[in-house]
Amino acid sequence: MVASALTTAPALAEDVEVLHWWTSGGEAAALNVLKGDLETQGIGWQDMPVAGGGGEAAMTVLRARVTSGNAPTAVQMLGFDILDWADQGALADLNSVAAEQGWDAVVPEALQAFAKVDGKWVSAPVNVHSTNWVWANKAVLDSNGIAVPTTWDEFAAAVDALSAAGVTPIAHGGQAWQDATVFDAVAMGALGPDGYKAAFIDLDEDALGGDAMKTAFERMEFIRANVDENFSGRDWNLATAMVINGEAGFQMMGDWAKGEFLGAGKTPGDDFLCFRFPGTENQVTFNADQFAMFDQGGTVSAEQAALASAILSPSFQSAFNVVKGSVPARTDVSDADFDACGKQGMKDLAAAAASGNLFGSMAHGHANPASIKNAMYDVITAHFNGEYDAETAVSELVDAVSIAK
Ligand code: BGC
Repeated sequence: MVASALTTAPALAEDVEVLHWWTSGGEAAALNVLKGDLETQGIGWQDMPVAGGGGEAAMTVLRARVTSGNAPTAVQMLGFDILDWADQGALADLNSVAAEQGWDAVVPEALQAFAKVDGKWVSAPVNVHSTNWVWANKAVLDSNGIAVPTTWDEFAAAVDALSAAGVTPIAHGGQAWQDATVFDAVAMGALGPDGYKAAFIDLDEDALGGDAMKTAFERMEFIRANVDENFSGRDWNLATAMVINGEAGFQMMGDWAKGEFLGAGKTPGDDFLCFRFPGTENQVTFNADQFAMFDQGGTVSAEQAALASAILSPSFQSAFNVVKGSVPARTDVSDADFDACGKQGMKDLAAAAASGNLFGSMAHGHANPASIKNAMYDVITAHFNGEYDAETAVSELVDAVSIAK
């Protein structure tokens, strides 16, 4: 209470102000699980939503808030952004909460790499999402005699069949982060796990500029040719709605898309299908939402500690992630309450971690810092919109990364 009395934020001492980008129907439903959890502890919630999938707009608002000396209590954040703010000394030390709940033993290494800096926990991991998923309308596939594709060629044939039948094959929203999310999966398929790591995580010029990258860009051209003409600027959840309503066959999107299907009362296996992007069945490109707590007076406030501890409780990890479409950020949570896609997500994550096939998502801030991620976004989006052919895109990618490094 002493610490919270020192807070300069306009929030009441008992409130947490939370900046996040969970504004779609499925995301809001998941957020309500967290709000409800805090309410039972008598902690109020000041909502600070900033729309925009992937969180770029939220990060811009955050910078403005911190610059004006008015940081929110807690902020939804991804990967390298957390490390950047921690390096600037802006984040509160959560070690006391982490020790009490034993986070070290239950949060996987891959997440700790983005949650702990110099032995200090600086954020509370909420979940693990992954980006190499395809979402499909089952009735649309069935009525066109399409089985779940397991190779690029099968996928391309399925897309051609839908196109011939007059159905929009691929639902997509033309926003840079969505183009990059699709590219994450397409590049993993074309480059393979070693190539993906070399190109996007190690920033190796040969991998960035190689033939497999050209194949990835060519496949993006095929995808671009099979989206509807109104794709530009469309929000991701509206693209998901096209698959839900049977207006389109497939969407390549992270598993937050599942939250939209569930919100519409749909059941995996009956109404929709989830499967790994063809050719990436053994890989997981992940991103983990975390709440970083901004230092508001030298020590973590009681409200921040309560929020962090609520997030890491096993019952919350199950209840929240069942709704959100993600999987728990703890390895000891039962999959009993998860649907078929959630169970598969948990199994895939454990298997990928064990076999060295778990990689930070380039599109969602877990492969490299924002400056490099944004340089990649620019090339991927310019190419998707027809500014370059595949060969030029490859050399533009190499140049953009070398300048941003
Ligand atoms: C976040 C998800 C969110 C998605 C779309 C991702 O970067 O990790 O939690 O649902 O963006 O907004």
